[in-house]
Amino acid sequence: MGVVIAVTGKGGSGKTLVSTLLVRYLIENKKGYVLAIDADPDSNLAESLGIEYNKTVGDIREELSSNPLPPGVEKKNYLDSKIFESTTETKNFDFIVMGRPEGPGCYCAINHMLRQVIDSMTNAYDFTIIDAEAGLEHLSRRTTQNADIMLVVTDPSKKGFHTANSIKEMVKGLEIDVEKIYLILNKYSMDLMESMDDSIKETGLEVLGKIQLDDEVRRFDSKGIPLMELPENSIAYRESNNIFRRLLNEKS
Ligand SMILES: Nc1ncnc2c1ncn2[C@@H]1O[C@H](COP(=O)(O)OP(=O)(O)OP(=O)(O)O)[C@@H](O)[C@H]1O
Ligand SMILES: [Mg+2]
Repeated sequence: MGVVIAVTGKGGSGKTLVSTLLVRYLIENKKGYVLAIDADPDSNLAESLGIEYNKTVGDIREELSSNPLPPGVEKKNYLDSKIFESTTETKNFDFIVMGRPEGPGCYCAINHMLRQVIDSMTNAYDFTIIDAEAGLEHLSRRTTQNADIMLVVTDPSKKGFHTANSIKEMVKGLEIDVEKIYLILNKYSMDLMESMDDSIKETGLEVLGKIQLDDEVRRFDSKGIPLMELPENSIAYRESNNIFRRLLNEKS
């Protein structure tokens, strides 16, 4: 069984940065087959990973809702083939974009079935990394139900910690099956550490590690260069690698 890691947190906290660097860590350290899922409707993980894709799962859902199952075709096989169509294979990992969430129409059943196909797909990979939608919506819709590990990313803002807290409470309250939940502090600077300490305690979450505010990340994003290509001596690369090593229980 593969390990499913969901990366959650407030909008703009650094979910996509953390997801990208985690995918890179797993590849560089030859951790096996990796599936990356962009579950943010405002999808931009592909840009960050430096890859292109054709279809989202949302596109497949639309197609299925207007073209029902061809006669004589087994439903499960058909949905498998459709999800395969929306899977981008790269040299080092596979990639799926969820796309827009279902609208007010009547796609629920299709959506549910597609999710089941994706859930069962994660068994074929050693690691599945989910760049989740910002905030809490996805938890209440239970689309992050099957994560083994949840990484909650926050920036130093009160709002970030507030969301982290709500995510933790929601996971508990909904009895979502998450084995481990950790906090990652992103965009911190030394002068803010003291005030962050109290906020960390309030969340009651275990801190897995910290990533400083890194000008290189800002520079890459402003030029539209994939974060996958951040130099190995960049702060974000080095600090995130320490975090992932700890996550996977490895010595440095
Ligand atoms: N450690 C860091 N140092 C400097 N800038 C950062 C850092 N982490 C993230 N950023 C910047 O903050 C912005 C948000 O980061 P990112 O896109 O990873 O967050 P997100 O949580 O995925 O956002 P969204 O909710 O919009 O998907 C980006 O412009 C990114 O360049
Ligand atoms: Mg993002």
